[in-house]
Amino acid sequence: MTGTWIGSDLPPIWRHGEEYFLLGHDEALYLVRNRCPHRGGPLKAGFINAAGELVCPMHRGAFAVDQLISLPTTIRLDEGPTP
Ligand code: FES
Repeated sequence: MTGTWIGSDLPPIWRHGEEYFLLGHDEALYLVRNRCPHRGGPLKAGFINAAGELVCPMHRGAFAVDQLISLPTTIRLDEGPTP
């Protein structure tokens, strides 16, 4: 699947006490912390706008997906053969 999508319907993903959500972008998968860079809104409940930005539901801040992917808290899920 190409493009950008949010795993909004998936159960919460917890890691070290923080909630993350699954973000698909250009055929890669990422775990993004479910806290808006602005004031901690639940990004998972946002949407992708026509410009390909993720719009936060709290104050409608729009964040470039590349910006979210490059956050130090974002985890890229790498594919690879199972050993
Ligand atoms: S908390 Fe996300 S835009 Fe303000």
